[in-house]
Amino acid sequence: MPTFVLDGHELEFEPGDTIIQAAHRAGIDIPHYCWHPGLSAPANCRMCLVELVPPAGRSPLLLDVLRWDPDRQQYVPEKKPKLVPACQQPLAPGMEVRSQSSEHVRRARAAVQELLLVNHPVDCPICDQAGECRLQDYWLEYQGTLKRMRDEIVHKPKAVPFGPTIVYDAERCIVCTRCIRVSDELAKDPILSLRERGNLTEVVLSPDRRLDHPYSLMTEYVCPVGALTAVDFRFKARVWFLRSVRTICPGCATGCNAFLDYDPRTQRVFRHRPRQNLRVNRYWMCDEGMLSYRRVHSGRVLEARVGGKATTLDRALGAAAARLGGSDQARLAVILSPQHSNEDNQALFALARGALGAGQLFMGGRGPGEGDEILRHTDKNPNTAGVMGLFGDGHPEPITGFVPAVDARRITRALVLGSEVPNLELAAALGQLETLVVLGTHQGSLVERASVVLPVSTWAESEGTFVNAQGLAQKSERAIRPIEPSLPARQMVDALRGALDHATTARSAGAGP
Ligand code: SF4
Ligand code: SF4
Ligand code: FES
Repeated sequence: MPTFVLDGHELEFEPGDTIIQAAHRAGIDIPHYCWHPGLSAPANCRMCLVELVPPAGRSPLLLDVLRWDPDRQQYVPEKKPKLVPACQQPLAPGMEVRSQSSEHVRRARAAVQELLLVNHPVDCPICDQAGECRLQDYWLEYQGTLKRMRDEIVHKPKAVPFGPTIVYDAERCIVCTRCIRVSDELAKDPILSLRERGNLTEVVLSPDRRLDHPYSLMTEYVCPVGALTAVDFRFKARVWFLRSVRTICPGCATGCNAFLDYDPRTQRVFRHRPRQNLRVNRYWMCDEGMLSYRRVHSGRVLEARVGGKATTLDRALGAAAARLGGSDQARLAVILSPQHSNEDNQALFALARGALGAGQLFMGGRGPGEGDEILRHTDKNPNTAGVMGLFGDGHPEPITGFVPAVDARRITRALVLGSEVPNLELAAALGQLETLVVLGTHQGSLVERASVVLPVSTWAESEGTFVNAQGLAQKSERAIRPIEPSLPARQMVDALRGALDHATTARSAGAGP
């Protein structure tokens, strides 16, 4: 592989790399605002300027500039090397680049920072970006001087709703154009652009449009400052109180890699955001997946029920065991869930094939939805491939056969994992059964129709493996503790197995000699 030298260190690069790409891959940060590894490079912020050392025998390209001399109280002429943006400069073998080691670069970065902050409001105490804002980080690292401008800043529109998910603050905007390029290049919906010039420049929407494409939250995600904020997250939490785990988005079969941010003190989740995986989602997520975290807390089933009435978990387990055990197991169906992890489904699969001896096994989950060529899959379940894998060379009964089987009384009882089934017809058929036991996370038509409900935890409350549409098995970590009295489905299945054993023992003891 060819090499170049950055601040005295020899680094490898791939042909076609720019300086910032090669440095980024080596884990070295060259400060940047407008550059993003997943977008084109307009080189408009000038924060990434670096100095190129000319090859031996060649003189550097020098510019005539004026420098303010505080001792003489006047400008003095001097020469400085022409700096280049690292985000646009392609590398050549043997090239020598100075970043942190160049006094000219250090001064240029401080000047860019100062220019960006000339009209910037001092909003940090109320800004959602505080704590993860590049203006704050780079001020500390590359500027560190107090503001010299004493005039009133240029005022621009604040709190402009761009659409249902995003609010824009033009005063905080540093005009890096990342949000514009996300809409153009990722979402293929070029509805954002710039208007005016100089310090009056601001981002605007196309006439008669709202920022409502399925990747609108990615504009906020790439904004390096607090100019774009998400309606969902605004003013809800300070980021330094949050912790992150690595999760897999449960929104569809793409299985985007994500971080789930939660507050360990209150055990609440606040945010879902992309985690880079070049094989799966690159740098992105869709809005639906970003907002999927809200279901961890909303609409949850947080009580055990028998016959629609709340009861203790032990009583519900006892009732479930009494209704699911017995001798007529050929007419007992078990429905696995591609909404749940491999571990949850494996536990239920083993119970169905073992202690329960269920006659028929199906796969439920959500019905299909809208997809696109970018990330969104029409299969709205994160683990269809994982559930199918449990059957080895076989496969579950086709779910289309469930309703006719209920009508023909070939199925009279069912144990279902998950709160969703693909269609209303199936939910109605489940409601006609003599016994319907649901291992459910959320309220809904299935839970309402159940004879016994056992509350189970969501993906955020237990770790698990999900296999995406490409066949990649990916681990998702646990963020918060299971919300009581719910248990991860695999533990609930174990508890149900215990209750079944107990019921079997009681039945044999009752039969007597
Ligand atoms: S809103 Fe943010 S991402 Fe868009 S141009 Fe302004 S600073 Fe850049
Ligand atoms: S594309 Fe699918 S997996 Fe990715 S964020 Fe959207 S819903 Fe989640
Ligand atoms: S990162 Fe903005 S000019 Fe290079």
